[in-house]
Amino acid sequence: MMPSTEEHTTAFNNTAIFLHWFIALLLLVQFLIGLDMVNIPKGPDSTRAFWFNTHKSIGIFIGCIVLFRLYWRFQSKVPGLPPKASSWERFAATASHASLYFCMIVMPLSGILGSLFSKYDLLVFGVRLPKFLEHDPVIKELMTIIHQSISYFFLMLISVHILAAVKHLVIDCDGVFDRMMPNFSGTSKERNFKKNEKQN
Ligand code: HEM
Ligand code: HEM
Repeated sequence: MMPSTEEHTTAFNNTAIFLHWFIALLLLVQFLIGLDMVNIPKGPDSTRAFWFNTHKSIGIFIGCIVLFRLYWRFQSKVPGLPPKASSWERFAATASHASLYFCMIVMPLSGILGSLFSKYDLLVFGVRLPKFLEHDPVIKELMTIIHQSISYFFLMLISVHILAAVKHLVIDCDGVFDRMMPNFSGTSKERNFKKNEKQN
C-alpha cells in the first residue's frame, strides 16, 4: 500500500474500484496491440499505420485516466493492509503499487515524447496534433528504448501483482482481494472486511 494521509477505512471506494478495472482492461488491449503491431510489415496496403495510431490514441487516453486516478487516490481514503500483515508484506505492497503507478505514467509519457520527436504526425482518434517539436532521431531512439524496456518490466510487475492478489484470495483469505472487487450485492464492504478480520 502506498503512503496516504488517511488510512481509516477498510475498503476502496467505487470510483477507485472502477478506475482500477477500467485501466486494467485498457492496458490489456494496449499490450495486445503494442506487442502485435510492431511485427506488421510496412507497405502500401499495410494496416501498420492504423494500428500504430490506434495504439497511440488509446495510450494517450490511458495517460489521462491515470492522472485522474492518481488525483482521486490522493484525495480519498485508502485502506491499509490487515494488521496481521508482516513488515515485508507491507514493504512489498507499497513498492509494487508505487512501481505500477510509475509504469502507468512512464509508458504514455515515453510514447508521446517518442511520437512527437519522430518524423511521423501524431494522430489521436483521427485528429492530427500540431507538430511543435523538431524530428530528433536520437531522442526518438532513446524514448523507444525506454518505452520497450519499461513495457517488459511493467508486464513482469503485473504478473507478480496478479499472483499476490490470488495469494490473498486463496491462501491468506484476508479480504484484501475482495476490497478491490465491484460490490454488486449492495452489502457493505467495510462490514465484510471486518467480518473477515474477526475470522482470521
Ligand atoms: C500505458 C500505455 C502504453 C502501453 C502499455 C504501451 C505498450 C507498448 C508495447 C508493449 C509496445 C511494443 C514494444 C515492443 O515489443 O517493441 C509498444 C510500442 C510502441 N508504442 Fe506504446 N504503449 C503505451 C502508450 C503509448 C503511447 C501514448 C504512444 C504514443 C503516443 C505509444 C507509442 C508506441 C510506439 C510508436 C511503439 C513502437 C515502438 C516505438 O517506436 O517506440 N505507446 N507500446
Ligand atoms: C493491468 C493490470 C493491473 C494494474 C496496473 C493494477 C494496479 C493496481 C494498483 C496500482 C493497485 C493499488 C491501488 C492503490 O492502493 O491505489 C492495485 C490494487 C489491487 N489490485 Fe490491481 N492492477 C492490475 C490488475 C489486477 C488484477 C488482474 C487483479 C486480480 C487478479 C488485481 C487485484 C488487485 C487487488 C485485490 C488490489 C487491492 C490491494 C490492496 O487492497 O492492498 N489487480 N492494483
